[in-house]
Amino acid sequence: MTAPADTTPALAVTGLSKRFGASVALQDVDLAIGPGEVHAVLGENGSGKSTLIKILSGFHRPDAGTVAVSGQPLPLGHPASSYRLGARFVHQDLGLVDSIPVLDNLAIGAGFATRLGTISARRSSERARADLARVGLAVDPGASVGSLSPATRTGVAIARALREDPGSPVRLLVLDEPTATLPATEVDRLMDIIRRVSAAGVGVLYVTHRLDEIFTIAGNVTVLRDGREVAAVPTSSLDHRRLVDLLVGEELTAAHHVAETLPAEGERPALSLRGITGASLDGFSADFGAGQITGIAGITGSGRETVLGAAFGAIDRTGEVLTAGGVRLAPSRPDLAMRHGLAYLPADRVRNAAILSLSARENISLSSLRPFRRFGTMRGRPERRIALTWFQRLSVRPPDLVDLPLESFSGGNQQKIMFAKWLRREPVVFLLDEPTQGVDVGAKAVLHRQLVQAAAGGAAIVISSSDVDELAAICQRVIVCRDGRAAADLRGGEVSARAISRECLLGSASPNHGVSSTTGVPRPGASPGRVFPDQGFPDQEGPADK
Ligand SMILES: Nc1ncnc2c1ncn2[C@@H]1O[C@H](COP(=O)(O)OP(=O)(O)OP(=O)(O)O)[C@@H](O)[C@H]1O
Ligand SMILES: [Mg+2]
Repeated sequence: MTAPADTTPALAVTGLSKRFGASVALQDVDLAIGPGEVHAVLGENGSGKSTLIKILSGFHRPDAGTVAVSGQPLPLGHPASSYRLGARFVHQDLGLVDSIPVLDNLAIGAGFATRLGTISARRSSERARADLARVGLAVDPGASVGSLSPATRTGVAIARALREDPGSPVRLLVLDEPTATLPATEVDRLMDIIRRVSAAGVGVLYVTHRLDEIFTIAGNVTVLRDGREVAAVPTSSLDHRRLVDLLVGEELTAAHHVAETLPAEGERPALSLRGITGASLDGFSADFGAGQITGIAGITGSGRETVLGAAFGAIDRTGEVLTAGGVRLAPSRPDLAMRHGLAYLPADRVRNAAILSLSARENISLSSLRPFRRFGTMRGRPERRIALTWFQRLSVRPPDLVDLPLESFSGGNQQKIMFAKWLRREPVVFLLDEPTQGVDVGAKAVLHRQLVQAAAGGAAIVISSSDVDELAAICQRVIVCRDGRAAADLRGGEVSARAISRECLLGSASPNHGVSSTTGVPRPGASPGRVFPDQGFPDQEGPADK
């Protein structure tokens, strides 16, 4: 990393505005980031953070405003200029191409091939290894990106952003929710990387919904609400409470310990897993109770991130999965799992389970087509009414615009729409990987309440999460994975963020255990995760929205 010679701001934004049709995404936003400064940009889902970033990267052209990177005016709407001036991005959707190897993904700059594409295969492979090593990843450069875990994919996107290019040294690093899929050990490593980068004089624009990270890493904070700047202050002038007030206004509802309202644990399992093996699992067994919220914790590679996909049939496995009625679910048959009342929200749900070009309304009804079909065409009105109900229930923003394509919604609002898609089926067993990833602090409370309600209605809710605070807040029971098995089973009063973290790290050879596990290279004999199919869902009624 080459340090800029002077104190020219790494980024200077003035009067930036952007509308999409009638909706205002950004209104007269100013932002200045000094060299070596880590500046957090915060705001609720849909407040304009990603829009700001996409303007900086040249993807969107603003309606008004100016941007300078390291003192140089940025020609707007031009990705190659943004790169040339030294701006680098890790976008919320990562911007990786799944079908091609890590190596080729690293060589793609901001959506265009860099000069590195022309060097010899051997040299580019060495170079890729070095790029990956810089962020502590030991992933094979020849592996296709589609086969990697969400955490490893994030690592590849960060490695690409930090790739050294003597023709265009990095001045500004922009990270849009880079930790959404990262477990705690890997978050720590990312924080170290950011510290190192900023110490070399690079300005960092950091977007996250995990508020603790801001106090760890950011010197200054800008808060957006509905596209407007409501605060730009040093982090040292804030505490957690004040920050939450700035974000959501003063009316945050308590998200914590919502599961206390659920009855004590019953005996009836709604789903039983026996000796599940494959994709980082090695004989995982557990029962999940009806009417309960069970958490799954563990470092990356422990089985935490594959167990629910394997149970559902989205990831290949051996071993037995039994329903409450004693039905044995065949592996790799998500269609049968759904027919028996299972629902699965994958971690990378927008990529795996949504169709971005279809409307929110169509995505919500995808899991359950029958009520809307008549003479082979979709009946618009009931589908619309149901989508509107769910938009209100989950506070999707912008409200009521159910006909907008899913890609027009902010990341967090896309997650809420995916939630609606499954909740409306009233699943008997609802398996969720990283359920509130990318969701703001207020919306998280809304989604947690929906899960508690579903459990109170008798559903077995199983949440796999890298966020131990979330598990501690919502689960009555937490199973901790180590080495592909259920290694600990915390219940009732034993459940706390501390106890979960401790169990996750027990048996680790070193505090760095999570590092090597981010390689995403499956254990011998394990098969890579299959992309969750979204087509060909069996027709099934969605009674939840009646
Ligand atoms: N391509 C688009 N077409 C229409 N509207 C859009 C488009 N992109 C963003 N918007 C709208 O602009 C607003 C800001 O969205 P943006 O993605 O910037 O939010 P965000 O702050 O990044 O939210 P999140 O935390 O959920 O990622 C939202 O109302 C969104 O629906
Ligand atoms: Mg966003």
